[in-house]
Amino acid sequence: MYKGVVHRYRDHLPVDAAARVITLLEGDTPLIPLDNLRRRLGIPARWYAKFEGLNPTGSSKDGGMTMAITAAGAAGAKVVMCASTGNTSASAAAYAAQAGMICCVLIPEGKIALGKLAQAMMHSAMVLQIEGNFDEALTVTRQITDSYPVTLVNSINPFRIEGQKTAAFEIVDTLGEAPDYHFIPVGNAGNITAYWKGYKEYEKAGKSTVLPKMIGWQAEGAAPIVRGGRVLHPETVATAIRIGNPASWERAVAARDESGGHIGMVSDDQMTEAQKLLASANGIFCEPASAASVAGVIRYHAEHPFRKDEVIVSTLTGHGLKDPNRAIEISPAPAKV
Ligand code: F0G
Repeated sequence: MYKGVVHRYRDHLPVDAAARVITLLEGDTPLIPLDNLRRRLGIPARWYAKFEGLNPTGSSKDGGMTMAITAAGAAGAKVVMCASTGNTSASAAAYAAQAGMICCVLIPEGKIALGKLAQAMMHSAMVLQIEGNFDEALTVTRQITDSYPVTLVNSINPFRIEGQKTAAFEIVDTLGEAPDYHFIPVGNAGNITAYWKGYKEYEKAGKSTVLPKMIGWQAEGAAPIVRGGRVLHPETVATAIRIGNPASWERAVAARDESGGHIGMVSDDQMTEAQKLLASANGIFCEPASAASVAGVIRYHAEHPFRKDEVIVSTLTGHGLKDPNRAIEISPAPAKV
Protein backbone atom coordinates (compact mmCIF):
# COMPACT_ATOMS: atom_id res chain seq x y z
CA MET A 1 0.00 0.00 0.00
CA TYR A 2 1.18 3.52 -0.82
CA LYS A 3 2.30 5.37 2.32
CA GLY A 4 3.17 8.90 1.15
CA VAL A 5 6.36 10.67 0.06
CA VAL A 6 8.29 10.42 3.34
CA HIS A 7 7.95 6.66 3.36
CA ARG A 8 8.65 6.31 -0.36
CA TYR A 9 11.75 8.52 -0.41
CA ARG A 10 12.99 8.11 3.15
CA ASP A 11 16.54 7.32 2.00
CA HIS A 12 16.78 10.79 0.44
CA LEU A 13 15.15 12.71 3.29
CA PRO A 14 16.33 13.95 6.69
CA VAL A 15 13.75 12.07 8.78
CA ASP A 16 14.52 10.81 12.24
CA ALA A 17 14.00 7.03 12.37
CA ALA A 18 11.89 7.42 15.52
CA ALA A 19 9.74 10.28 14.16
CA ARG A 20 5.99 9.79 13.87
CA VAL A 21 5.37 10.50 10.18
CA ILE A 22 2.42 12.83 9.62
CA THR A 23 0.98 12.03 6.21
CA LEU A 24 -2.23 12.31 4.22
CA LEU A 25 -0.74 10.04 1.53
CA GLU A 26 0.37 13.01 -0.55
CA GLY A 27 2.48 12.64 -3.69
CA ASP A 28 2.33 9.91 -6.34
CA THR A 29 0.64 12.52 -8.56
CA PRO A 30 0.24 11.69 -12.25
CA LEU A 31 2.33 12.89 -15.15
CA ILE A 32 -0.39 13.49 -17.73
CA PRO A 33 0.49 13.68 -21.46
CA LEU A 34 -0.74 16.96 -22.94
CA ASP A 35 -1.20 15.50 -26.42
CA ASN A 36 -4.34 17.41 -27.41
CA LEU A 37 -2.83 20.70 -26.33
CA ARG A 38 0.48 19.90 -27.99
CA ARG A 39 -1.21 19.15 -31.32
CA ARG A 40 -3.40 22.20 -31.13
CA LEU A 41 -0.39 24.45 -30.48
CA GLY A 42 1.91 22.72 -32.96
CA ILE A 43 4.46 21.79 -30.31
CA PRO A 44 6.34 18.69 -31.51
CA ALA A 45 8.02 17.77 -28.16
CA ARG A 46 6.63 15.26 -25.65
CA TRP A 47 4.83 17.41 -23.10
CA TYR A 48 3.53 16.30 -19.68
CA ALA A 49 1.69 17.98 -16.84
CA LYS A 50 2.77 17.01 -13.32
CA PHE A 51 -0.67 17.54 -11.79
CA GLU A 52 0.10 18.49 -8.20
CA GLY A 53 -3.48 19.68 -7.82
CA LEU A 54 -4.34 16.02 -7.16
CA ASN A 55 -2.64 16.08 -3.75
CA PRO A 56 -4.82 15.65 -0.62
CA THR A 57 -5.35 19.40 -0.12
CA GLY A 58 -5.18 20.15 -3.84
CA SER A 59 -1.74 21.69 -4.19
CA SER A 60 2.00 20.98 -4.35
CA LYS A 61 2.40 22.26 -0.77
CA ASP A 62 1.44 18.84 0.64
CA GLY A 63 4.71 17.20 -0.40
CA GLY A 64 6.56 19.77 1.68
CA MET A 65 4.06 19.92 4.52
CA THR A 66 4.29 16.22 5.39
CA MET A 67 8.01 16.78 6.04
CA ALA A 68 7.60 20.13 7.85
CA ILE A 69 4.90 18.84 10.21
CA THR A 70 6.66 15.52 10.77
CA ALA A 71 9.88 17.37 11.71
CA ALA A 72 7.98 19.88 13.87
CA GLY A 73 6.29 17.04 15.73
CA ALA A 74 9.57 15.20 16.25
CA ALA A 75 10.99 18.40 17.78
CA GLY A 76 8.04 18.63 20.17
CA ALA A 77 6.21 21.53 18.49
CA LYS A 78 2.62 22.13 19.51
CA VAL A 79 1.89 25.20 17.38
CA VAL A 80 2.77 25.92 13.74
CA MET A 81 2.30 29.07 11.73
CA CYS A 82 2.60 30.33 8.15
CA ALA A 83 1.93 33.34 5.99
CA SER A 84 0.12 32.38 2.83
CA THR A 85 -1.52 33.33 -0.43
CA GLY A 86 -3.84 30.40 0.34
CA ASN A 87 -2.46 26.97 -0.53
CA THR A 88 0.20 26.81 2.17
CA SER A 89 -2.43 27.75 4.76
CA ALA A 90 -4.79 25.01 3.52
CA SER A 91 -2.01 22.43 3.62
CA ALA A 92 -0.59 23.52 6.99
CA ALA A 93 -4.08 23.51 8.52
CA ALA A 94 -4.81 19.97 7.26
CA TYR A 95 -1.49 18.44 8.32
CA ALA A 96 -1.60 20.21 11.71
CA ALA A 97 -5.09 18.75 12.22
CA GLN A 98 -3.74 15.29 11.42
CA ALA A 99 -0.89 15.85 13.91
CA GLY A 100 -3.10 17.30 16.64
CA MET A 101 -1.28 20.64 16.55
CA ILE A 102 -2.61 24.18 16.63
CA CYS A 103 -2.19 26.00 13.33
CA CYS A 104 -2.21 29.75 12.84
CA VAL A 105 -2.32 31.22 9.33
CA LEU A 106 -1.77 34.83 8.30
CA ILE A 107 -3.33 35.82 4.98
CA PRO A 108 -3.73 38.99 2.92
CA GLU A 109 -7.32 40.09 3.46
CA GLY A 110 -9.59 39.64 0.45
CA LYS A 111 -6.77 38.27 -1.71
CA ILE A 112 -6.98 34.55 -1.26
CA ALA A 113 -9.15 32.24 -3.35
CA LEU A 114 -12.38 31.00 -1.81
CA GLY A 115 -11.56 27.27 -1.75
CA LYS A 116 -8.29 27.85 0.10
CA LEU A 117 -9.95 30.00 2.77
CA ALA A 118 -12.68 27.36 3.18
CA GLN A 119 -10.02 24.69 3.71
CA ALA A 120 -8.11 26.59 6.41
CA MET A 121 -11.39 27.33 8.21
CA MET A 122 -12.68 23.74 7.97
CA HIS A 123 -9.43 22.34 9.37
CA SER A 124 -9.92 24.62 12.39
CA ALA A 125 -6.87 26.81 11.83
CA MET A 126 -6.73 30.17 13.55
CA VAL A 127 -7.14 32.40 10.48
CA LEU A 128 -5.78 35.91 10.78
CA GLN A 129 -6.04 38.47 7.98
CA ILE A 130 -3.88 41.53 7.51
CA GLU A 131 -4.48 44.64 5.48
CA GLY A 132 -1.40 44.01 3.42
CA ASN A 133 0.14 41.59 0.98
CA PHE A 134 1.88 38.21 1.35
CA ASP A 135 5.34 39.74 1.76
CA GLU A 136 4.15 41.79 4.75
CA ALA A 137 2.37 38.75 6.20
CA LEU A 138 5.60 36.73 5.94
CA THR A 139 7.58 39.45 7.74
CA VAL A 140 5.10 39.43 10.62
CA THR A 141 5.09 35.61 10.70
CA ARG A 142 8.88 35.54 10.93
CA GLN A 143 8.80 38.01 13.83
CA ILE A 144 6.19 35.98 15.73
CA THR A 145 7.88 32.60 15.15
CA ASP A 146 11.27 34.10 16.16
CA SER A 147 9.81 35.33 19.45
CA TYR A 148 7.46 32.54 20.53
CA PRO A 149 7.57 28.72 20.63
CA VAL A 150 5.79 28.50 17.29
CA THR A 151 7.24 26.62 14.30
CA LEU A 152 7.25 28.42 10.97
CA VAL A 153 6.13 26.16 8.11
CA ASN A 154 6.65 28.43 5.12
CA SER A 155 9.19 27.24 2.55
CA ILE A 156 12.02 29.02 4.40
CA ASN A 157 11.65 26.04 6.70
CA PRO A 158 14.21 23.68 5.08
CA PHE A 159 12.01 20.62 5.66
CA ARG A 160 9.44 22.07 3.24
CA ILE A 161 12.03 22.12 0.46
CA GLU A 162 13.15 18.59 1.37
CA GLY A 163 9.60 17.31 1.01
CA GLN A 164 8.78 19.19 -2.18
CA LYS A 165 11.95 17.98 -3.92
CA THR A 166 10.35 14.51 -4.05
CA ALA A 167 8.13 15.72 -6.91
CA ALA A 168 11.29 15.80 -9.07
CA PHE A 169 12.11 12.24 -7.92
CA GLU A 170 8.63 11.13 -8.98
CA ILE A 171 9.07 12.63 -12.44
CA VAL A 172 12.42 10.87 -12.98
CA ASP A 173 11.02 7.59 -11.61
CA THR A 174 8.06 7.82 -14.01
CA LEU A 175 9.97 8.88 -17.14
CA GLY A 176 13.10 6.84 -16.38
CA GLU A 177 15.10 10.04 -17.00
CA ALA A 178 14.88 13.73 -16.19
CA PRO A 179 13.02 15.88 -18.75
CA ASP A 180 14.87 18.42 -20.93
CA TYR A 181 12.78 21.32 -19.67
CA HIS A 182 10.90 21.89 -16.43
CA PHE A 183 8.33 24.72 -16.50
CA ILE A 184 7.06 26.03 -13.17
CA PRO A 185 5.28 29.09 -11.72
CA VAL A 186 7.38 31.20 -9.34
CA GLY A 187 5.91 32.99 -6.34
CA ASN A 188 7.87 32.79 -3.12
CA ALA A 189 10.34 30.62 -5.13
CA GLY A 190 10.33 27.59 -2.82
CA ASN A 191 9.08 25.14 -5.41
CA ILE A 192 11.63 25.93 -8.14
CA THR A 193 14.31 25.63 -5.44
CA ALA A 194 12.94 22.27 -4.33
CA TYR A 195 12.65 20.76 -7.81
CA TRP A 196 16.18 21.82 -8.71
CA LYS A 197 17.52 20.29 -5.49
CA GLY A 198 15.61 17.08 -6.23
CA TYR A 199 16.86 16.81 -9.81
CA LYS A 200 20.47 17.43 -8.75
CA GLU A 201 20.34 14.87 -5.93
CA TYR A 202 18.77 12.22 -8.13
CA GLU A 203 21.34 12.76 -10.86
CA LYS A 204 24.11 12.44 -8.28
CA ALA A 205 22.51 9.21 -7.04
CA GLY A 206 22.70 7.85 -10.60
CA LYS A 207 18.93 7.86 -11.17
CA SER A 208 19.16 10.18 -14.19
CA THR A 209 21.90 11.19 -16.60
CA VAL A 210 20.70 14.68 -17.53
CA LEU A 211 19.44 17.75 -15.67
CA PRO A 212 16.53 19.80 -16.98
CA LYS A 213 16.64 23.47 -17.81
CA MET A 214 14.55 25.12 -15.09
CA ILE A 215 12.14 27.60 -16.70
CA GLY A 216 10.24 29.68 -14.11
CA TRP A 217 7.34 32.07 -14.68
CA GLN A 218 6.15 35.03 -12.66
CA ALA A 219 3.03 37.11 -13.27
CA GLU A 220 3.76 40.43 -15.03
CA GLY A 221 2.38 42.43 -12.10
CA ALA A 222 4.40 40.40 -9.58
CA ALA A 223 7.72 39.74 -11.30
CA PRO A 224 10.49 40.93 -8.98
CA ILE A 225 13.05 38.39 -10.23
CA VAL A 226 12.47 39.27 -13.88
CA ARG A 227 12.50 43.01 -13.20
CA GLY A 228 15.49 42.73 -10.89
CA GLY A 229 13.92 44.50 -7.92
CA ARG A 230 11.32 44.17 -5.21
CA VAL A 231 7.72 44.88 -6.26
CA LEU A 232 6.05 46.84 -3.47
CA HIS A 233 2.48 46.43 -4.67
CA PRO A 234 2.26 43.11 -6.55
CA GLU A 235 -0.96 42.60 -8.52
CA THR A 236 -2.24 39.64 -10.52
CA VAL A 237 -5.40 37.58 -10.89
CA ALA A 238 -3.21 34.60 -10.01
CA THR A 239 -3.43 35.38 -6.28
CA ALA A 240 -1.24 32.37 -5.39
CA ILE A 241 1.80 34.12 -6.88
CA ARG A 242 0.91 37.70 -5.90
CA ILE A 243 4.33 38.12 -4.28
CA GLY A 244 6.79 41.00 -4.61
CA ASN A 245 9.77 39.85 -2.57
CA PRO A 246 10.28 36.08 -2.77
CA ALA A 247 11.99 34.51 0.24
CA SER A 248 13.99 32.08 -1.94
CA TRP A 249 14.95 34.71 -4.55
CA GLU A 250 18.67 33.83 -4.67
CA ARG A 251 18.00 30.11 -4.83
CA ALA A 252 15.59 30.58 -7.75
CA VAL A 253 18.24 32.57 -9.60
CA ALA A 254 20.78 29.83 -8.82
CA ALA A 255 18.41 27.15 -10.19
CA ARG A 256 17.94 29.21 -13.35
CA ASP A 257 21.64 29.87 -13.87
CA GLU A 258 23.03 26.46 -12.88
CA SER A 259 20.53 24.71 -15.17
CA GLY A 260 20.98 27.09 -18.11
CA GLY A 261 17.30 27.97 -17.72
CA HIS A 262 15.22 31.11 -17.75
CA ILE A 263 12.80 33.05 -15.55
CA GLY A 264 10.26 35.08 -17.50
CA MET A 265 6.86 36.63 -17.00
CA VAL A 266 3.41 36.03 -18.39
CA SER A 267 0.42 38.38 -18.38
CA ASP A 268 -2.85 37.70 -16.58
CA ASP A 269 -4.48 37.27 -20.01
CA GLN A 270 -1.91 34.68 -21.06
CA MET A 271 -2.45 32.69 -17.84
CA THR A 272 -6.22 32.88 -18.27
CA GLU A 273 -5.98 31.76 -21.90
CA ALA A 274 -3.71 28.86 -20.95
CA GLN A 275 -5.97 27.84 -18.05
CA LYS A 276 -9.01 27.72 -20.37
CA LEU A 277 -7.12 25.92 -23.12
CA LEU A 278 -5.84 23.23 -20.77
CA ALA A 279 -9.33 22.71 -19.34
CA SER A 280 -11.10 22.61 -22.70
CA ALA A 281 -8.49 20.81 -24.82
CA ASN A 282 -7.10 18.36 -22.27
CA GLY A 283 -9.70 18.04 -19.51
CA ILE A 284 -7.39 19.33 -16.79
CA PHE A 285 -8.61 22.07 -14.46
CA CYS A 286 -5.78 23.93 -12.73
CA GLU A 287 -5.81 27.19 -10.83
CA PRO A 288 -4.76 30.50 -12.49
CA ALA A 289 -1.18 30.57 -11.09
CA SER A 290 -0.54 27.00 -12.22
CA ALA A 291 -1.43 27.95 -15.77
CA ALA A 292 1.73 30.09 -15.83
CA SER A 293 3.69 26.93 -16.54
CA VAL A 294 1.50 26.23 -19.60
CA ALA A 295 1.44 29.87 -20.77
CA GLY A 296 5.20 29.79 -20.30
CA VAL A 297 5.61 26.84 -22.70
CA ILE A 298 3.56 28.67 -25.33
CA ARG A 299 5.69 31.81 -24.95
CA TYR A 300 8.97 29.95 -24.87
CA HIS A 301 8.08 27.88 -27.95
CA ALA A 302 7.39 31.07 -29.91
CA GLU A 303 11.00 32.18 -29.39
CA HIS A 304 12.85 28.86 -29.02
CA PRO A 305 10.84 26.23 -30.93
CA PHE A 306 10.91 22.81 -29.24
CA ARG A 307 12.14 19.76 -31.14
CA LYS A 308 10.36 16.44 -31.52
CA ASP A 309 12.91 14.54 -29.43
CA GLU A 310 12.62 16.88 -26.42
CA VAL A 311 10.65 16.25 -23.22
CA ILE A 312 8.87 19.04 -21.34
CA VAL A 313 7.23 18.86 -17.91
CA SER A 314 4.94 21.63 -16.64
CA THR A 315 4.03 21.53 -12.96
CA LEU A 316 0.38 22.33 -12.34
CA THR A 317 0.75 23.45 -8.74
CA GLY A 318 -2.89 23.70 -7.69
CA HIS A 319 -6.38 22.44 -8.57
CA GLY A 320 -8.83 24.69 -10.41
CA LEU A 321 -11.51 24.15 -7.75
CA LYS A 322 -9.38 26.25 -5.40
CA ASP A 323 -10.58 29.38 -7.19
CA PRO A 324 -14.13 28.79 -8.48
CA ASN A 325 -14.95 32.50 -8.64
CA ARG A 326 -12.23 33.15 -11.18
CA ALA A 327 -13.31 30.16 -13.31
CA ILE A 328 -16.89 31.41 -13.45
CA GLU A 329 -15.71 34.95 -14.20
CA ILE A 330 -13.77 33.87 -17.29
CA SER A 331 -16.39 31.49 -18.67
CA PRO A 332 -19.61 32.22 -20.57
CA ALA A 333 -22.65 32.34 -18.26
CA PRO A 334 -24.92 29.28 -18.32
CA ALA A 335 -27.81 29.78 -20.74
CA LYS A 336 -31.26 30.40 -19.28
CA VAL A 337 -33.83 28.04 -20.77
N1 F0G B 1 1.32 27.89 -7.64
C1 F0G B 1 0.48 27.85 -6.61
C2 F0G B 1 -0.88 27.28 -6.85
C3 F0G B 1 0.87 28.33 -5.36
O1 F0G B 1 0.02 28.29 -4.34
C4 F0G B 1 2.15 28.89 -5.21
C5 F0G B 1 2.61 29.42 -3.93
C6 F0G B 1 3.00 28.88 -6.32
C7 F0G B 1 2.55 28.38 -7.52
C8 F0G B 1 4.38 29.40 -6.25
O2 F0G B 1 5.20 28.54 -5.54
O3 F0G B 1 5.93 30.10 -3.78
O4 F0G B 1 7.08 27.95 -4.16
O5 F0G B 1 7.29 29.78 -5.81
N2 F0G B 1 1.89 29.58 -2.92
C9 F0G B 1 2.35 30.00 -1.58
C10 F0G B 1 1.20 29.91 -0.61
C11 F0G B 1 3.05 31.29 -1.59
O6 F0G B 1 1.19 30.65 0.39
O7 F0G B 1 0.33 29.09 -0.80
P1 F0G B 1 6.47 29.12 -4.77
